[in-house]
Amino acid sequence: MMKGLKKWRLFALLSVLTVFLSACGEEYISTLKPSGPVGQEQLNILILAVSIMALVVIVVSVIYLLAFAKFRRSKVGEDFMPKQVEGSHTLEVIWTVIPIVLLLILAVPTLTATYKFADVAAADEVDEEGNKTALTVNVTAKLYWWEFEYPDLGIITAQELVVPTGEKVYFNLLAADVKHSFWIPAAGGKMDTNVDNLNKFYLQFDEESEGLKDGVFYGKCAELCGPSHALMDFKVKTLNPEAFDTWVAAMQATEGNVADPNSSNAGEAAFANSCLGCHAVSAVTGAGVGPNLTAFGDRNRTAGFLEHSVEETTNWIMDPENYKPGNLMTGKYSVTEEEAKAIAEYLMTLSVED
Ligand code: CUA
Repeated sequence: MMKGLKKWRLFALLSVLTVFLSACGEEYISTLKPSGPVGQEQLNILILAVSIMALVVIVVSVIYLLAFAKFRRSKVGEDFMPKQVEGSHTLEVIWTVIPIVLLLILAVPTLTATYKFADVAAADEVDEEGNKTALTVNVTAKLYWWEFEYPDLGIITAQELVVPTGEKVYFNLLAADVKHSFWIPAAGGKMDTNVDNLNKFYLQFDEESEGLKDGVFYGKCAELCGPSHALMDFKVKTLNPEAFDTWVAAMQATEGNVADPNSSNAGEAAFANSCLGCHAVSAVTGAGVGPNLTAFGDRNRTAGFLEHSVEETTNWIMDPENYKPGNLMTGKYSVTEEEAKAIAEYLMTLSVED
């Protein structure tokens, strides 16, 4: 009876795991389908480690079963005394050397890769004219959203990281409030964002995100940071270098954009009165208290995880606490439902993409 119950439990656990793990294969958010060399090399190390562990488990199990079969009492008799091997030099050497060799096989590529991925010296290289040759993005994690500043390009985005394909992108990682962790599963990582010390690493994106389900990869916060930790997603759009330059130029062209409180557009006027104090609508303005909304119309989600629609955006503006508990927008403004809807409609028109 007990045995049957245990088997049933194991079966149930495996079934649940199958359901859970089957969702891990989506290309836009899977470490198992890397989209660049960093993710690929990390996956290779993962496979190497699992292979070594599997080998150990298999070899030990086989020896165990062989011993079981060979030394049954019915086979060797009641008075059988096996060969005594206590203190055997040969055996001691064998079972000391084998683990050392296995650990070396795992340690050498792991350490090599760890140092390689932490090498950000090339981030500061400049060409003959003194311009930086590599793209750097300053990432600031906040409760519960992400700010991406491109210091050499003079632009800022929130919730959407746009990067060119085929080159190393260097990240400077910080947090504004509590510790978060920056993770783009398909590209590699993750790395903590701390409040007081800068972490640096690089990733490379070799695949354009256009063909993916939402046309983007997704990134996540990987450090428990508060009640809305699980809702702290961001999108990662990878463009070929030419398209990236076009996007940068469009973002730079938003310089000076503001919302007019006297606008005939009710949404723009309401936004100017209630939201503009925290949210910029120009990518060149600099960091704001709240997410930069310059390209809100180009987003795929509202608030990182809600459907990107006027309806959901209105709901979000009316009651952010209901959707993202602990967010810092709650209570900072008050708008009527009519104003919220007008603001949502206005936000949807803010776009730099075609
Ligand atoms: Cu930020 Cu978890």
